[in-house]
Amino acid sequence: MDKFLVTGGQKLSGEVTISGSKNAALPILAATILAEGKNVIKSVPDLRDVTTMMQILRELGVKVTRQSNGDIETEVQDESKSTAPYELVKTMRASICVLGPLLAKRKTARVSLPGGCVIGVRPIDLHRKGLTALGAELAEEHGYIVGKAAKLTGREIFLGGAFGSSVTGTTNILMAATLAEGQTIIENAACEPEVQDLANFLAKMGAKINGIGTHRLIIDGVKSLKGTTHTVIPDRIEAGTFIMASAITGSQITIKNCRLEHLSGVIDKTKEVGVSIVKTGEHTCQIYRTQDLKPVDISTLPYPGFPTDMQAQLMAVLSLANGISVVTEKIYPDRFMHVAELNRLGAHIRKEGPYAIISGVKKLSGAPVMASDLRASAALVLAGLAAEGTTEIQRVYHIDRGYEQIEKKLKKLGADIKRVKDV
Ligand code: EPU
Repeated sequence: MDKFLVTGGQKLSGEVTISGSKNAALPILAATILAEGKNVIKSVPDLRDVTTMMQILRELGVKVTRQSNGDIETEVQDESKSTAPYELVKTMRASICVLGPLLAKRKTARVSLPGGCVIGVRPIDLHRKGLTALGAELAEEHGYIVGKAAKLTGREIFLGGAFGSSVTGTTNILMAATLAEGQTIIENAACEPEVQDLANFLAKMGAKINGIGTHRLIIDGVKSLKGTTHTVIPDRIEAGTFIMASAITGSQITIKNCRLEHLSGVIDKTKEVGVSIVKTGEHTCQIYRTQDLKPVDISTLPYPGFPTDMQAQLMAVLSLANGISVVTEKIYPDRFMHVAELNRLGAHIRKEGPYAIISGVKKLSGAPVMASDLRASAALVLAGLAAEGTTEIQRVYHIDRGYEQIEKKLKKLGADIKRVKDV
């Protein structure tokens, strides 16, 4: 198992290039199950979750190869397979994204139930509700969701649960609806950029989708979809994490391959904290901070609000702000695993239900800490960049799930960060 050693206090400078979006790439790869012929997917990040999805596709009879230029090529070879096994699904919840395509294209699916998750309860009732409305018969057997869909028929579906819509739920229903007979309307659809990217990919494959980017997706089913070429959008959460790296170290950096229009909720709050973000090119921006960090109150919200996937990283920054901040987690009320670890580094954060109250401190001090999930790990790396002395972050396999070579990118910016084998 690898760990990171981060020695804080270095100013960052220079440029960082953002990789393709993990959460866009995963459903896009799943959607290739729907296609006749070959797909070429560009800008797919080289991450553990992507490798897991590639393995799942292979289990499902799809030939998947990573070319020397980084492109991923897929082509369905054997449609008789329909099981996504527990051994793979347990490591990545996004595996559930193969359910909709399997039901639509192969009329049958057997996908392991994902199981526990450290960021909180993550049910799949909305996925089930939508797919059942289209005509699938779903049952749970021996830890698997087992589905049959002799015929899928378009319907009007309202996708609302206790916490609003669902990102991967929307993608599952959208993918299934592309091959359903007639028209499907998904009301209250999630409209995250990753959902939009999937919809654009499906449209290139021949799907008929209206309302992309809105909460109302209208899909007119077609008989078949064909392989296509697509470039995945830049990862807005990785870009946001580098914005926070600039904020916490008070450094000026340039971020390339970044779609600022996907980051408006993050930019709004980061400016309040005292950070300047200037667009310098079509997909390039400059980040710098010339004043003390100011406290802010935020709530995580569906897009375009402040994303839950940036909550931990902003909290690391706010731990050094000049005053008290309140963070309300509205998507995953238990997503606060990083609080205890940030406190080990000297932060003053109190968790009260879905709220965290952060009393800014003057300095953080390096210590051994444990990464618990992807975004929590990123928060610990950020805190380490600003802390006095060395922060040892164990279990960095969590961060490898979603950040492509984060230590190399930070090192190039001047950070003192090393990956070492934990013996
Ligand atoms: N929910 C339900 N029922 C469902 C599905 C979701 O009640 O059937 C609830 C969840 O419990 C949660 C809320 O709805 O409270 C939103 O969950 P959603 O389904 O939107 O999350 P997801 O699709 O499982 C994706 C991202 C997550 C990100 C969330 C929220 C992917 C692969 N994952 O998960 O990303 O946090 O949307 O934006 O797209 C990450 O990258 O670190 C990550 C966890």
